[in-house]
Amino acid sequence: MRFVALESEQNVASFVADRVAEVVELGETVLGVATGSSPVPAYREIVRRQRSGEIDLRNCHLVLLDDYLGVPPDHPASYHRTIVETLAEPLGIPPTHILGPDTMAPDTSLSCQSFESAIDRLGGVGLQIVGIGRNGHIGFNEPGTAWSSRTHVVELTRSTRNDNARFFHDLDHVPTRAITQGIATILDARRVLLVATGEAKRPVLEQLSIGLLSIDVPASALHCHPRATVVFDQAAQPR
Ligand code: F6R
Repeated sequence: MRFVALESEQNVASFVADRVAEVVELGETVLGVATGSSPVPAYREIVRRQRSGEIDLRNCHLVLLDDYLGVPPDHPASYHRTIVETLAEPLGIPPTHILGPDTMAPDTSLSCQSFESAIDRLGGVGLQIVGIGRNGHIGFNEPGTAWSSRTHVVELTRSTRNDNARFFHDLDHVPTRAITQGIATILDARRVLLVATGEAKRPVLEQLSIGLLSIDVPASALHCHPRATVVFDQAAQPR
């Protein structure tokens, strides 16, 4: 796993946009996208570059990393809607090119399987962007998740629900379950780019940078990926 230390959040955003531009140039059209705050400056930078004609992602497909279960795709806090508003619409990517798990289907195991099959039909993910939770989660794969996991339903931990309460009225409105790409699904992407900014991520990056593989730090599975990069700003830099 490659660790890239950069000065500021904006440098991190530019680095992510450079990698996206590079893989698209190489012919990759399927981008895996995380939500949360970490990739937001990068998404803004990607949109800026598209508007100034530096890149053209209109033919790309966006694959969601995860979403809340039981939250409709047009709900303001749904990850689907977030990706539509922050990336797809500003980039001119059609709704048919956004792939997320079905969060409303009564048969959740069928939603999980259908999502996996749909990723396969797209030819897999060329570059998967992920954030990292303070507890080391990637997607909604909390500590203890099997590294062989495929897309599955998870009960959200209290700490993750607390972290996400800011997107809802209060903690009681934060869903208790989500559907997430599994760790093995994430590892299937041809490239993985983990984005971490801000002081709150420093302790978990310190754990990650030691290089230990631990089921208690889901992101450490990325050490097993041949083309995984972790990019972080000075505030998150391991000491
Ligand atoms: C979001 C996701 C989560 C976040 C992580 C970090 O799609 O899967 O794993 O990436 O919780 O969140 P932020 O970036 O808000 O610190």
